[in-house]
Amino acid sequence: MGSPFKDHHRHHPSLAKKLIPWTFYAMIPLVLFRVYFYPFALHHTTTPILSSSSFVSPPPSLLEEETSCDFTSGKWVPDKRGPLYNGSTCGTIKEGQNCIAHGRPDRGYLYWRWKPKQCKLPRFEPNTFLQLLRNKHLAFVGDSMARNQLESLLCMLSSVSAPNLVYRDGGENKFRRWHFGSHNFSISVYWSPFLVKGVEKSNTGPNHNQLYLDHVDERWAADMNGIDMVVLSIGHWFLHPAVYYEGEQVLGCHYCPGLNHTEIGFYDVLRKAIKTTLKALIDRKRANGNGIGAFVTTFSPAHFEGDWDKFGACPKTKPYREGEKTLEGMDAEMRQIEVEEVEAAKMNSIQLDRFRLEALDVTKLSLMRADGHPGPYMHPFPFANGVTERVQNDCVHWCLPGPIDTWNEILLEVIKKWEYESRREE
Ligand SMILES: *[C@@H]1O[C@H](CO)[C@@H](O)[C@H](O)[C@H]1NC(C)=O
Ligand SMILES: *[C@@H]1O[C@H](CO)[C@@H](O)[C@H](O)[C@H]1NC(C)=O
Ligand SMILES: *[C@@H]1O[C@H](CO)[C@@H](O)[C@H](O)[C@H]1NC(C)=O
Repeated sequence: MGSPFKDHHRHHPSLAKKLIPWTFYAMIPLVLFRVYFYPFALHHTTTPILSSSSFVSPPPSLLEEETSCDFTSGKWVPDKRGPLYNGSTCGTIKEGQNCIAHGRPDRGYLYWRWKPKQCKLPRFEPNTFLQLLRNKHLAFVGDSMARNQLESLLCMLSSVSAPNLVYRDGGENKFRRWHFGSHNFSISVYWSPFLVKGVEKSNTGPNHNQLYLDHVDERWAADMNGIDMVVLSIGHWFLHPAVYYEGEQVLGCHYCPGLNHTEIGFYDVLRKAIKTTLKALIDRKRANGNGIGAFVTTFSPAHFEGDWDKFGACPKTKPYREGEKTLEGMDAEMRQIEVEEVEAAKMNSIQLDRFRLEALDVTKLSLMRADGHPGPYMHPFPFANGVTERVQNDCVHWCLPGPIDTWNEILLEVIKKWEYESRREE
């Protein structure tokens, strides 16, 4: 079978350049994605949701003046204190990311903290977070990275207050909600790997995803009125084979040999998906008048150094040093698109009261943490019978506890800054 991109390479050098990163991912058999992202068909029943509440201010002592800080550039420095939680603190860590429970022997990866260049990133303060979000509802929406980040946050919050699981959908834990009675704070996770309407490939249906780029996914968007803050996190699912629709017509496809559609890659598709999503958020908030804070978590780099099913696929045990690893290629492109779309949406929402939007720009700091993935410990005790020739590795998601906890430290700092600004405006 010839390259599906061959003609494009000849006629459109710029398109060819855009498509090249995909060939890197072609090394990873698609079966792996089944292991990681479990794309099962899904039947979600929406439940009634708590309506949003009036804002209750936290005590002023929580909020010192925040000067704005660029959290994106910096370095990882040793930190003796270690994580706020362990694998049994919260009971919600997905098995494949509970690395210590699965026998990961080294612990060094737990003792680092992110040091931005011009400022300090404080250690996560669960009480502050809960007080700032008292009577509010925060939702994580996206793919398994959204869930990974949610579980990190949930575990850190659980170290001071116990959440109750108040809703879960029957199937794969893809839609869940917890309530912290101590602060009447709700936190949810919504599975929506494209944010826009999509049909995930399945064993019974077509062997590719179908994306409807001009329709937001109502499985989460229908609940937006009852949500005060949302963290959107997508990316990796856009690498899969897919057919794209816009205006009820086929726009093109990504890796669909055998189908008579034009290969268009996935970068512009990601851009359109985010554009549609942020526009829907803005339009709906404009229509019903209640505010929202929205974050887009930027692309989370994977760290495969060889075959995904060979020993040592992501063997590092220490972060990269400053300057040792540059952000480039697909990681850079995906991040760039997300950051640009957030900036564009900010301009579109400028007159909108109580609408706040920020990119949670974690790509670079995550790129430096090749040591933070489960690797073979995605499965329990993978070497119990010695090292075998084949062993599956997860070099995409993050161990919990692990570097992803830092994402939520930054999340809290931005929320604190928003809160400080809105008090100054009063
Ligand atoms: C986990 O942390 C709890 C306290 O939050 C502690 O009681 C428990 O011993 C720890 N478990 C392990 C395995 O370290
Ligand atoms: C709890 O929070 C919800 C919003 O998440 C709000 O509608 C409700 O009024 C709050 N309850 C109390 C007792 O404040
Ligand atoms: C493929 O699509 C083109 C343009 O839409 C059409 O002209 C052509 O007949 C199609 N080929 C096949 C084999 O369906």
